[in-house]
Amino acid sequence: MADTRITITKDGPAKVESEGSIEIFDHAGNAIPHREGRPAFLCRCGGSQNKPFCDGTHSKIGFEGAEAAVKAHRDAQGDD
Ligand code: FES
Repeated sequence: MADTRITITKDGPAKVESEGSIEIFDHAGNAIPHREGRPAFLCRCGGSQNKPFCDGTHSKIGFEGAEAAVKAHRDAQGDD
């Protein structure tokens, strides 16, 4: 595994794993604390009440991740 691995989960958050520490900052450069030594799950749906972290809301709102939407569009277009 690379030092840092980011996995875009199906219709869910981005899972960030690192062999080292993970530092997360807001737009103003303020550090956002998270559990040390554990993956960070970052919201992609925009619905979390605990941003930037996922709180499971994506399941309740039926979020469809972009990777699935792009594939569906390609399938509809008949492109490979
Ligand atoms: S991706 Fe899980 S709450 Fe947004």
